[in-house]
Amino acid sequence: MRTTDGEQTEAGAAVRKATEEDLARLAEIRNTPALFAEYLADAAAGKAFFLVYLRDRRIVAFARLKMPTSESVEAGKKRPLISDLWVAEDARGRGTGTDFIHRIEGMARGLGYRDLYLGVDPCADSRAFALYRRLGYKAIQAQPYRTTGVFCDASGTGRVRKEYLRLDMVKDLSAPHPGDTAPD
Ligand SMILES: CC(C)(COP(=O)(O)OP(=O)(O)OC[C@H]1O[C@@H](n2cnc3c(N)ncnc32)[C@H](O)[C@@H]1OP(=O)(O)O)[C@@H](O)C(=O)NCCC(=O)NCCS
Repeated sequence: MRTTDGEQTEAGAAVRKATEEDLARLAEIRNTPALFAEYLADAAAGKAFFLVYLRDRRIVAFARLKMPTSESVEAGKKRPLISDLWVAEDARGRGTGTDFIHRIEGMARGLGYRDLYLGVDPCADSRAFALYRRLGYKAIQAQPYRTTGVFCDASGTGRVRKEYLRLDMVKDLSAPHPGDTAPD
C-alpha cells in the first residue's frame, strides 16, 4: 500500500504489545532472554511499550517505545524514545524497519507527542543511522559522544557494561501520517 505522503506500508503487517507467549520466538530473533523479561516487566510497570512487528502473523522485529518518566522529565527529557529496534536477519532490507518505525511514530502521535527521540552509534550501526536519516530524524549533537550502557553478554543472560558511541536524533511528528492510532 502507498500512503498519501508517498511512503510504503507493508501489507499483512501488524504491530502489537509483546506478551510472555512471544518470549520463545523473540529469543530466536536475538539471544537476549533476560533482557526481554525485563522489557515485559517495564511494560507492565508502564515505563515503556514493548512492541512486536508481525508479518503474516509471524514476529519478525521488536522495539521499545520508552515513555518519559517523572525522573526523565525532571532531567529535561520530555519526549518518548524508540529503543532497541531489531529486525530478524532474514527480514531485513525489505522495508520492515521503515514500516515499524512509521507505526511507532503513529502510536507516539496518537498518544499526543509531537516529537520522538532515538539514539544510534553512527559508526557501528551505520545502516540504522542511514535509515533514521532517510526517515527524517535529525542529529542533535554535531558529533557522536561516548557513553556507557548495560548490554547482554554472549550467553544472553549475563550483563556487561560497555562504552559506546552515541548520537541522539529527533523527529518532528507534527506532519500527520495516515492510519495513526494509539496501541491497544
Ligand atoms: C537497522 C535495521 C533495524 C533496519 O531494518 P530493515 O528492516 O533492514 O530496514 P528497511 O528494510 O526498512 O531499510 C533498510 C534498507 O532496505 C532498503 N529497503 C527498504 N525497503 C525495501 C524493499 N521493499 N526492497 C528492497 N530494499 C528495501 C532500504 O533502502 C534500506 O537500504 P540499505 O540496504 O542501504 O540499508 C536492521 O538492519 C537491524 O535490525 N539491524 C540490527 C540492529 C540494529 O542495528 N538496530 C538499530 C540500533 S540503533
